[in-house]
Amino acid sequence: MVKEVTAFAPASVSNVSCGFDIMGFALEGPGDTVTARLSTQPGVRIGSISGCTSPLPVDASGNTAGPPVIALLRQCVPGTGVEIDICKGIPVGGGIGSSAASAVAAVVAADALLGTNLSREELLELAIEGEKIAGGSVHVDNLSPCLWGGFVLVRGYNPIDIVSISVPDSLFCSVISPRIEIKTEHARKILPKAIPMEDVITQTGNAAGLIAGMFTGDFPLIGRSLRDVIAEPARAHLIPGFTLMKEAALAHGALGCGISGSGPSLFALASSRDDAGKIVSAMGNALAVTGCGYATLVSCVGARGARVIS
Ligand code: HSE
Repeated sequence: MVKEVTAFAPASVSNVSCGFDIMGFALEGPGDTVTARLSTQPGVRIGSISGCTSPLPVDASGNTAGPPVIALLRQCVPGTGVEIDICKGIPVGGGIGSSAASAVAAVVAADALLGTNLSREELLELAIEGEKIAGGSVHVDNLSPCLWGGFVLVRGYNPIDIVSISVPDSLFCSVISPRIEIKTEHARKILPKAIPMEDVITQTGNAAGLIAGMFTGDFPLIGRSLRDVIAEPARAHLIPGFTLMKEAALAHGALGCGISGSGPSLFALASSRDDAGKIVSAMGNALAVTGCGYATLVSCVGARGARVIS
């Protein structure tokens, strides 16, 4: 049995405007890395956490990387000991799937270390245990693109049904991450408890339109569909310069623009890498007016999900 395995899990954009809790895609570049090693002490311990500016829980049961591995041991190899080192490559509370990436990288590394060879569906069920800590609820729209790669639709939750959606080759994404933290749990508490029928119809039409646009490469349809009448109106006030950034993105050729996950990051989709670069610069200039610091990223839809890297 190998003694140490390292896995990488990518950042992701979830919700994608009209797909609250049911759509997400992987980004290329940033991600979390977790190393799992066998330990003589039964249970799960966190050895080290690096790469983040704010302190994260060092107790395995309180860190999103811990519960998936605790559940894996309980289900498959009780009595075993695993120590994990977490290297954060994604800002915490930034809205691009930081908690999901830690959970997924940890369970993928532990699965390879222990030789349990679980399916992606089984790994997803375990990773949910980590996401519950961050969001206080079960949602897999970051976890599933992080595991599967590409663009995914969560067709259903009971049972979980993940569908990979093909995207046009020239689709690119601009991401701007204001340097503030939004807790997913808080961002979920402020959502409306009841949705007017008219909004349900609008959101459902847009969700279906977005998927159809992805499959057919119809950029205008993708653009028309990138509207969120449910979460964005309730959450936009949490993000400094939200309207300025969104207007700047649309004025510079974005197909659409919205909140990434529960924010504060915003994403915009574009039909070329060139456009995505111009859009992200314009969003940065718009946010700079508020004095808020930020980081930016331009990415295709990342084809690869979490993987063992050593
Ligand atoms: N779909 C989730 C939400 C993603 O918007 O609350 C956040 O992780």
